[in-house]
Amino acid sequence: MIIIARNNPLAVLHRRPVSVSPAGKMRCMNVNNIPTRTIWPAAQQRAVDIIDQTALPHEYRTLRLATLADAAHAIRSMQVRGAPLIGVTAAYGVALALAQQADDATLAAAVAILAATRPTAVNLHWALARMQAFLAPLTPSTRADAAWQEAATIADEDAAQCCSIGEHGLQLLRPLAERRGRLNLMTHCNAGWLATVDYGTALAPVYAAFAAGLDVHVWVSETRPRNQGLLTAWELKQHGVAHTVIADNAAGLLLARGEVDAVIVGADRIAANGDVANKVGTYLKALAAREAGVPFYVAAPRSTVDFACPDGAAIPIEERAGDELRVVHGLDAGNTLSDIRQLPLGTAVANPAFDVTPAKFVSALITERGSCPASTDGLLSLYPEMRRA
Ligand code: MRU
Repeated sequence: MIIIARNNPLAVLHRRPVSVSPAGKMRCMNVNNIPTRTIWPAAQQRAVDIIDQTALPHEYRTLRLATLADAAHAIRSMQVRGAPLIGVTAAYGVALALAQQADDATLAAAVAILAATRPTAVNLHWALARMQAFLAPLTPSTRADAAWQEAATIADEDAAQCCSIGEHGLQLLRPLAERRGRLNLMTHCNAGWLATVDYGTALAPVYAAFAAGLDVHVWVSETRPRNQGLLTAWELKQHGVAHTVIADNAAGLLLARGEVDAVIVGADRIAANGDVANKVGTYLKALAAREAGVPFYVAAPRSTVDFACPDGAAIPIEERAGDELRVVHGLDAGNTLSDIRQLPLGTAVANPAFDVTPAKFVSALITERGSCPASTDGLLSLYPEMRRA
């Protein structure tokens, strides 16, 4: 994997294709005012380029993924992250493997390697299953090109679905804004453009509200230990949306004080009964929102819904390395990216990366097909084809 650009706005000019809002209202996302996706095919090469999210918000740099191993490493190390983007990167990972050799064994091995990278986001497994089902019946001689096309299609569909989530979410947010004259939202983790191909899930309605001229402000929770909230602040700033970063523990106070009109988060897996797995800390926000009488919305595309998973208890929760708690990452006094050990090496820590919010605390699910109650019936009303499955 090679670094191809560092803090150089001109180096991003080749980032194509950009996404176009079907409604023509919401702009696709920008870096330094240049329309940008989070993953895109490299010019004249079977490779993809990504934004290295481990360096943000301090440094903007892009990386080239040229092999299956590069793609697996990017997902595991969270150079790419967020459920939809993990799925799209995995699809390209399969395509990169088949570009080397396109036999059945290579396809099966690529799927197995990528499936083992991260356990909770079901988009990963959804994308791999789709690639395998599409590619397995093809002859090896046609697979490499077909895999590349299919990965690109998955990426395009993700951008279009997120854009639709934005428009449907706006319909829920507009009445709140009209009642208050201003829209104060709260989000957790990063479920924005950086977590998808474009637009985001939880942030897509925010961008749609901003594009519609609503006076929107976002409380961004820091999201310890990996601080994905800082990514949210970075992308909201790139887009010009007003926001304030808070410590995770400040969320309850702001909700209780009436300083939040709605909480909106993404999801890594939605079970068939509407239970939602998302970044650890989401559950506490849902509890506080319920107590404060504030709507709690979850935005996600179809690829995040796991109809085979009966409820939240069946969702695997990723346990990540303890050093994510023991070590903090940021700029030192000399402006160099550094790690600071805040806890001694041997300190016992637990680092579950996700939690489960029971469906009863979710006011509505917002998908590319519209909003629904967080329940089996609600999901099936939007995806009736799953009734037959
Ligand atoms: O561990 P991460 O950063 O991949 O977790 C991301 C989240 O939990 C997001 O909220 C979720 O994937 C929704 S992304 C649109």
